[in-house]
Amino acid sequence: MKTALVTGASSGIGAEIAKRLDSLGFNVIITARRTDRLEALALELQNDTTIIEADLSRQEDCEMLYEQTKDMNVSVLINNAGFGMIGDFDSTDLERELSMIDVNVKAVHILTKLFLKDFIAKNRGYILNVASSAGLMPGGPLMATYYATKAYVVSLTQGIAQELKDRGSRVSISALCPGPVETEFNDVAECSFAVKGISPDYCAECALKGLFGRKTLIVPDAGMKLAAGAVKFAPRKLILGVTGKLQSKKLEDQ
Ligand SMILES: NC(=O)c1ccc[n+]([C@@H]2O[C@H](COP(=O)([O-])OP(=O)(O)OC[C@H]3O[C@@H](n4cnc5c(N)ncnc54)[C@H](OP(=O)(O)O)[C@@H]3O)[C@@H](O)[C@H]2O)c1
Repeated sequence: MKTALVTGASSGIGAEIAKRLDSLGFNVIITARRTDRLEALALELQNDTTIIEADLSRQEDCEMLYEQTKDMNVSVLINNAGFGMIGDFDSTDLERELSMIDVNVKAVHILTKLFLKDFIAKNRGYILNVASSAGLMPGGPLMATYYATKAYVVSLTQGIAQELKDRGSRVSISALCPGPVETEFNDVAECSFAVKGISPDYCAECALKGLFGRKTLIVPDAGMKLAAGAVKFAPRKLILGVTGKLQSKKLEDQ
């Protein structure tokens, strides 16, 4: 039986990806800190579901998650857990930012490395790293740390994808780069979107289509695809100015 591991499955994009993988016939391992949410999700799933409580800001929890699942025939890893925060860099809380770096960057790095070795040994497997369109931008005024974490995820994923292609591996790795998605992200980041977001269900559909289609960069919404294309040609200073304006609107709309 095929098995998939989804981090951050207690809400939003992760929960929707878990549902879709279940409907594709996968046994799904779902993980997050809020186990009551995971238990509610498990009731909706048809196949065998395993719940693992883990705080991915802790390296030992990332390692525990791998140890508990490495013999469960995992062939799909969805590194989705993550969060953001808003504010001028000199006023945002350092401890929370370091925790964000631990979840958005370190946990993705650790789990990708551990599972990739196994996937390469078996010459099969898919890894989806949930980045953001933020990771395609030159920087994000008022969300500077969040944008930087997602740029790391995009860069790491693209680098590994090329290594895999160069050695003719059947293992595939992708970065999902959505713009706004209507989840609990804003409540956690304490902001509101400047533009209307796509649904987490649609985002999950595009994510899995791109992942199994072996696309390295997956940008689900048409508007963001255009923006990502424009970024390649527009001066970085201009993009930074526009991004800053959009971010400050998130604060105004609070
Ligand atoms: N929503 C957007 O507009 C948007 C756009 C682009 C990219 N993204 C990315 O999409 C991913 C999912 O976010 P979402 O929008 O679905 O937001 P969400 O509804 O807030 O879900 C975030 C998930 O991450 C988990 N998580 C957060 N901190 C964690 C920790 N320390 N340990 C373990 N799990 C943790 C949460 O679980 P617990 O709280 O239960 O632990 C939750 O399941 C994130 O990486 C986010 O950066 C979101």
